[in-house]
Amino acid sequence: MQTIDRLDPLRRSVDALRQDGPLALVPTMGALHDGHLTLVREAAKHAAHVAVSIFVNPRQFGAGEDLDAYPRQLKRDCDLLASEGVSLVWAPGLEVMYPAGYATNISVSGVSEGLCGGDRPGHFDGVATVVCKLFQQVRPDSAFFGEKDWQQLAVIRRMARDLDFTHPHAEQIIGVPTVREADGLAMSSRNAYLSAEDRLRAAILPRAMREAISRIEAGGEVAACLSQLEQSLVAGGFASVDYAELREASSLASLEALRSARGRLIVAARIGHARLIDNMPVGHDGVANIT
Ligand code: PAF
Repeated sequence: MQTIDRLDPLRRSVDALRQDGPLALVPTMGALHDGHLTLVREAAKHAAHVAVSIFVNPRQFGAGEDLDAYPRQLKRDCDLLASEGVSLVWAPGLEVMYPAGYATNISVSGVSEGLCGGDRPGHFDGVATVVCKLFQQVRPDSAFFGEKDWQQLAVIRRMARDLDFTHPHAEQIIGVPTVREADGLAMSSRNAYLSAEDRLRAAILPRAMREAISRIEAGGEVAACLSQLEQSLVAGGFASVDYAELREASSLASLEALRSARGRLIVAARIGHARLIDNMPVGHDGVANIT
């Protein structure tokens, strides 16, 4: 496995790897957990070689967010990736990704508005900008993202369609179902911020979401089910709920009733020092990918 932090050697390495067949990219910010390794394993099914990028992208963190605290553990991450058979780790420094004079921003409207886009202004511009750059740098045939960040996946696909990307093509941006801990909590690098007590309490999030989904699917009024979900989270130890919304799975349009739409329940809530996000399908039998 090669670990590269400069553009010229990256291009040489990518050209050589592509001689063997398709190249898949798994973009990450490091602090890898089983969720990331699942992305790597899924990517390996689609490609001759898997590249993983590790870059903690300051442009997607707002003022007062956890940029400085975000766990950085490159050596451990590289050891894990080597044992997964990854061919290339792309780990550029800040000066390589955003050299002096850097001035370009990618902004995707529509799907990036509301939800995390409402609570974290500029976040999805930062994500779209860095993912666009990663795609230009690595030029993968496919790219793999966790469905835990459902809105992020929608933003990246929209960008790839709108800008006519070919490496990867929008259809080759693959969402991989969320990997969960034994108690149902979605895996996240930010779970590391939870105290032992809050970690136990946090498991109420997926449970309360499933209960809300059952009520909605049984015909319950959406607004009432969402409000009950918020109350359960606060009663269960969450400090606050940033949002709990039912959206149409692909367009992310708000749904006040389920009718025949493919719904997605999308939630962000705060507990201790962590802001946790999660999402689940509503009203259809487990269709995993947004289109
Ligand atoms: O999901 C993440 O880890 C990040 O948002 C990503 C896609 C690597 C961009 O920095």
